[in-house]
Amino acid sequence: MKDSPADWYKDAVIYEVRVRSFCDSSANGFGDLRGLTSKLDYLKDLGVTALWLLPICPSPMRDDGYDISDYKDVHAEVGTLEEFEAFLTAAHERGMRVITELVLNHTSDRHPWFHRARSAPQGHPDRDWYVWSERPDRYPAARVIFNDFEESNWAWDDEAKAWYWHRFYSHQPDLNFDHPPVRAAVLDVVDHWFALGVDGLRLDAIPYLFEREGTSCENLPETHAYLKELRAHIDAHWPGRMLLAEANQWPVEAARYFGTGDECHMAFHFPLMPRLFMAMRREEGRPVTEILAHTPDIPASCQWALFLRNHDELTLEMVTDEDRDYLWREYAKDPQARHNLGIRRRLAPLLNNDRRRMELISALLFSLPGTPVLYYGDEIGMGEDLRLGDRNGVRTPMQWSPAANAGFSNAEPARLVLPLIEDPEYHWRTVNVENQAKNESSLLNWTKRLIALRRRHPCFGRGSMALVDAGTDHALAFVREHAGDRVLCAFNLSRFTRPLSLDLSPWRGAVPVELFGGVRFPAAADGRWSLTLGPRGFCWFALEAPR
Ligand code: BGC
Repeated sequence: MKDSPADWYKDAVIYEVRVRSFCDSSANGFGDLRGLTSKLDYLKDLGVTALWLLPICPSPMRDDGYDISDYKDVHAEVGTLEEFEAFLTAAHERGMRVITELVLNHTSDRHPWFHRARSAPQGHPDRDWYVWSERPDRYPAARVIFNDFEESNWAWDDEAKAWYWHRFYSHQPDLNFDHPPVRAAVLDVVDHWFALGVDGLRLDAIPYLFEREGTSCENLPETHAYLKELRAHIDAHWPGRMLLAEANQWPVEAARYFGTGDECHMAFHFPLMPRLFMAMRREEGRPVTEILAHTPDIPASCQWALFLRNHDELTLEMVTDEDRDYLWREYAKDPQARHNLGIRRRLAPLLNNDRRRMELISALLFSLPGTPVLYYGDEIGMGEDLRLGDRNGVRTPMQWSPAANAGFSNAEPARLVLPLIEDPEYHWRTVNVENQAKNESSLLNWTKRLIALRRRHPCFGRGSMALVDAGTDHALAFVREHAGDRVLCAFNLSRFTRPLSLDLSPWRGAVPVELFGGVRFPAAADGRWSLTLGPRGFCWFALEAPR
């Protein structure tokens, strides 16, 4: 069967970018759309094929733009709608797709819909755009997600003289999806962005759309029914566009967001992420193989989105209490690094700035079934700043060069959207794109090679995965295969050199050809194949048919 171009997200390498922190074209200290547009050639050269933009709509910015006050415009800080369209055209001209945010669960309390709702009398349809109660004790089984900041999912509104429901910050009232005008308004927003040419929408906080007494108010059947409605609309009007579910849930629940291929095209695999870090620390593959064993098969048209780090904390909601304590102990020694149920740190510092570990975990991410999502700055190993509030320590300006303001902006340094990383180990004067572009051995150039290799082998995005016994728990090995394209991936998770004895009996006689160097290895003649991997080493081999 031929691969369908409508499944573009399966072959994609996604790059997550905070526009405000990427490149400032107007010297006001804020990254903007024109700045991002000017860096498209860098992104194309890096090899990524899709860009996911963090929120760009007008917002009071009390939750980094996830508190929207106008769904159809662009925040003046980052530009104009016309500049967004110019950016889209320029990205498309370079063959890159663009994914934006659909923050549909909640709005800012400054959104005109909320102003209208709080001033409307009870029983008036305007009031019903949000979820109100006379007492703050409904839905007691719903957990508080931002538990460092909020004690309850209810907040009092003096004007409405009633409590309103919010799953996140109290300034983010939840929309009432039982109210048909809300559903119509969201469709209108979807049409707006797709009509402009956006290729995909990330559905923020999708499990929480509906509330029902006696439930956790997550993953309710009503939410899935709504998603089927939304998807039917997309299929009818916007074929080829993609919906990506942000559902921080266990694999079985997260997989439900694919429906039977009639809900979202993609969903983040949240539980895999902390297990990759666990596998690294424990120096064994089991955390990864176990979670994959608990991951159901998904419809043929669907795809997991895999990530190591993003703009949020490294969330530990989808691990046991014991594993959370372990990960906190190992990766968040400084209590300042803990945030809600997670760790607010970047990739390089999490891995002790150890190049081998960064390569190992990135290669794993790029090998497992799904589409990898890279967080801006991690391709050069940027550091973090734990002194900044909320999750801002992982949202600092992109480090382009050793010039003033790291080449990010021409504003006065004090006016930058967030301070630059000045920790000597990750200082912007050293850790930046310009320096790394010049050095053939840099992390940036290595990441480029990794992306290029992945893109050459469709089995990574589309293939089956067969685990391979490697003769030691310290290693992880598997074969990815799609339409004649076959790659053996082998990882030594331990800090010591290890001999692996790989059971390649299903591929007896195949000739492994190492992908980075093209070197042919001895054939797997008798089924067991020996390979020695250095400390935290990995290899990818094309398995070629014997000549
Ligand atoms: C986003 C967060 C945001 C939250 C509330 C999340 O899923 O990724 O950054 O704080 O939604 O909007």
